[in-house]
Amino acid sequence: MARPPDRSPDRATAAARIAKLSSEIRHHDYRYYVLDAPEIADEQYDRLFHELEALEERFPELRTPDSPTQRVAGQPVASFPTVEHAAPMLSLDSDQDVAALQRFDERLRKALGERVSYVLEPKLDGASIELVYERGLLTRASTRGDGRRGEGVTENVRTIAAVPLRLRDGERPVPDFVAVRGEVIMRAGAFEKLNENLLAQGKEPFANPRNAAAGALRQLDPQITAARPLDLYAYDILSWGPAGGAAGRRDSEDERAPGEIATQWEVLAALRAWGLRVNGLVRRAGSSEEILAYHGELERQRDDLGYEIDGVVIKLDELAAREALGWTTRHPRWAFAFKFPPRKEVTRILSILPSVGRTGVVTPVALMLPVEIGGVTVARATLHNREEVARKDVREGDRVRVQRAGDVIPQVIERIEEPERERAAPWRMPAECPSCGTPLTERGPFTVCPNSFECPAQLVGRIVHFASRGALDIEGLGEESARLFAAQGLVRQLPDLFDLRAEQLALLEGFAEKSSQKLVEALGRAAHVELARFLYGLGIPEVGSAVARDLARHFGTLAALRAAGEAELEEVRGVGPRMAEQIAGFFRDPKNATILDQLLGKVELIESPPARPPDTAASSAEAAPGPAPPLAGLKFVFTGSLASMSRRDAQALVESQGARAPGSVSRATDYVVVGEEAGSKGEKAKKLGVQTLDEAAFLDLLRGKGITPPAG
Ligand code: IVH
Repeated sequence: MARPPDRSPDRATAAARIAKLSSEIRHHDYRYYVLDAPEIADEQYDRLFHELEALEERFPELRTPDSPTQRVAGQPVASFPTVEHAAPMLSLDSDQDVAALQRFDERLRKALGERVSYVLEPKLDGASIELVYERGLLTRASTRGDGRRGEGVTENVRTIAAVPLRLRDGERPVPDFVAVRGEVIMRAGAFEKLNENLLAQGKEPFANPRNAAAGALRQLDPQITAARPLDLYAYDILSWGPAGGAAGRRDSEDERAPGEIATQWEVLAALRAWGLRVNGLVRRAGSSEEILAYHGELERQRDDLGYEIDGVVIKLDELAAREALGWTTRHPRWAFAFKFPPRKEVTRILSILPSVGRTGVVTPVALMLPVEIGGVTVARATLHNREEVARKDVREGDRVRVQRAGDVIPQVIERIEEPERERAAPWRMPAECPSCGTPLTERGPFTVCPNSFECPAQLVGRIVHFASRGALDIEGLGEESARLFAAQGLVRQLPDLFDLRAEQLALLEGFAEKSSQKLVEALGRAAHVELARFLYGLGIPEVGSAVARDLARHFGTLAALRAAGEAELEEVRGVGPRMAEQIAGFFRDPKNATILDQLLGKVELIESPPARPPDTAASSAEAAPGPAPPLAGLKFVFTGSLASMSRRDAQALVESQGARAPGSVSRATDYVVVGEEAGSKGEKAKKLGVQTLDEAAFLDLLRGKGITPPAG
């Protein structure tokens, strides 16, 4: 495939584009990793990411340390212990373009010579997991989290039949310590059954097997995990070493692998020998032609495998040669994920309906002749917003190509010309809200119903969200019931939910005596709720479940959170100025305040007021008894780039020693560490009289506290 023509933007244009791309990517990272609700397909994301990488390549001086290209994406979530991985769990560089694959292959040949040997593996679309075996016994399992630290889900993983609790020690000696990486998946049959059960209980189904697997791993009750059949394929050794966890990286120079493992092929053989499941479709190859053939073969088999794969992973076979290629902060240079293009089908649009969501945004939805795309029947697709409808020029009755990429809501890609056919008139967004009749307003390309508090459609959305799994988890309260309650005037605001009585419900269509009783009981149980879930359920703009947990952890009580100003909110990990403004604005709104007060009269929050005021609390995570860590109670803000480590690593380092590392400077900051090309934070520190440190002074401070900084 030809490279795009070389249109060199000037520096200012590039800077603006980089800023825009970075903020878009961060938004999509948040949607994907935190909210589990991506808005765009993977390859659209990849396109943004590659464009940013290319621009930064051309203008290296515009690359900031906090650029999305400079970090391992994602944030760990809270309810399980945070576990440090034995070695970083990196992700893979990926593309669906043949040209990108060829560039990868050429780069390796240039570095290593013509005789390059690869291992090809299916790219499993599940949840990545680290399994730690000590003296052959499974002692720890954790999710990938942010790549460095994940959630300890050992008890849940122990319920997975495919995960050996003890490694086989026979053909191949088992090292005293070994950390294995693999993918937890849910097979198609189990996935369908789980969704049927969830629907029967009035709960939301999972959008895809990956979310279902990740959700099952994160159940607080291992019983629930056990009831959701999961499976595992192992594909990597992250680290090994002597007992006690003082493990070396597999790729460190003087370590030899257990049983003299020198290639990825032998890694897979060892994993298999130890009793771990390895995917049967793995192959060896020596050329990009062979890779292409394998890719095509797997793509043809894709719908018949019984589990989801989304591409092929190509790994350099020889482990020692990997050293020569090295890693970026995000991914190794010796591996590449050659993705499948999304699945597409052709169908016809029957009608286009404006659908009002919980936040008031009106989305045009295409109702289509049902069509099967990769084993899933699709009858609705989003058209995003009125500009998108106009740009694609799709109208009712048109033939269209529709795609389903992973879990993303199906999308209409394009209209298919039918010269013979007379078309309907162009579609127009209505002037009034289809639900409440309020005149709609425009916000950029979006159309919004401004009647937030009284619009029934928005209320239905709010109820469904409030009752959803990550929020109050009210069994039996799905979209259908919510619609009914809103239409009947039984629920006008969220607090009314808790006044519903079984006798009232039993009069509604579709509610038998028993189900009415059950729902009222479920509401009673849900009225006793952890602060984090409650906050998430409120549907505060931009606050997904991970941010809700961080807010709850930081403030401890709803009262403290409601009283917080924007500056204080920004001290919470993951909360930037924009989000702080949204959160503070939400709580300041008098109508929200009234509803919140009413809710508090009906629910009992499970809160944990901080033992110490939040400003001096050592770390938001586990406050274990014992001597205080060396940086306990201190607050560091990093700005600019450091020579000896990335900013993210510096933050992680001080956090691991008990300090906090918020994103912005306040009077409560103890030190601002100023690196190269620092921004305005250094200035702000001076203004506030906060001490600034250059990199050398920062490293001295660490050493003074007995902390050895990593060798730069
Ligand atoms: S190897 C450093 N092999 O794909 C190499 N990953 O970003 C790390 N995945 O999160 C990964 N199948 O969970 C590898 N056969 C395979 C894989 C695989 C699926 C996932 C992995 C990672 C993502 C890539």
